[in-house]
Amino acid sequence: MKRVALLGCGYIGTQLALAIDSGRVPARLERVYDASAEAARTLVSKLNSKPQITENPHLLSYPPVDIVVEAASQGAVREVALSVLQNRRDLMVMSVGAFMDEAIREVLEEACGDYQSRIYLPSGAAGGLDAISAARHEIERVSITTTKNPASLRGAPHFETEGMDADSITERTILYRGGAAEAVRRFPANANVAGAVSMAAGREAEVVVVADPDAESNTHTIRVRGGFGSMEFTTSNVPEPSNPRTSRLAALSAVRTLYNYCAGGVKTGT
Ligand SMILES: NC(=O)c1ccc[n+]([C@@H]2O[C@H](COP(=O)([O-])OP(=O)(O)OC[C@H]3O[C@@H](n4cnc5c(N)ncnc54)[C@H](O)[C@@H]3O)[C@@H](O)[C@H]2O)c1
Repeated sequence: MKRVALLGCGYIGTQLALAIDSGRVPARLERVYDASAEAARTLVSKLNSKPQITENPHLLSYPPVDIVVEAASQGAVREVALSVLQNRRDLMVMSVGAFMDEAIREVLEEACGDYQSRIYLPSGAAGGLDAISAARHEIERVSITTTKNPASLRGAPHFETEGMDADSITERTILYRGGAAEAVRRFPANANVAGAVSMAAGREAEVVVVADPDAESNTHTIRVRGGFGSMEFTTSNVPEPSNPRTSRLAALSAVRTLYNYCAGGVKTGT
């Protein structure tokens, strides 16, 4: 049975831990860490099989752990990812936006080769990444439009940069048009899909971020074109009430990716 350590005990981390605890993912949760000790304690209190709460994130990746699952923040990826790989553990990353920093991406990709470890980037809140990844060498253009209610975008650094207030948006407004690398800096908790699409495509996606006060779902429309033909995927996601920045599908995708890692059997998709 695979042994898992969890970095981040918020919404996604909790869904992963509960999936392991209930047996839905055949694994053992060995350790957890969160910058908020209270978040870690709250998560552990919900579990029948109690993992250890570590004092710092670097203690997550010691034996017998097979995989460290990051569900925290881009900052957590920067702080911890390399040491996980150096300890020859696998790594699953939810804060995929961190990979839009070329220096981080290169160091981590190289470390995978040096230490024979793997990094898993779940599709998260988007669909179609399997097909995009299959077509990557023939892609000529890739774009993504993300539309969210301003409440789901609240707190993004973009608003401070532009001297705006998310709560003052009263009509559908294009907030950002540009590359994925800048999008994940301006909307770190909202533009992970742009990072994941870029990673799947092997090139930086063009991104549009729209705030729509009438939007009840988090919608991502991905358009890809190239020698293979064209594709368009739209996911209309229910925002998680406890954390409206995150879509329910992101947690479901995290659980399924971990299931695929831990379980044998048939794996569907590229
Ligand atoms: N790939 C995707 O499509 C996708 C979709 C949704 C969310 N996400 C990302 O996944 C991550 C987790 O999402 P969530 O909804 O569970 O968030 P959340 O805010 O509910 O939980 C995050 C937890 O991580 C902790 N944390 C943050 N930075 C940390 C650090 N440096 N070290 C240790 N702990 C830290 C916080 O205290 C919090 O408890 C976020 O970065 C989010 O942007 C990705």
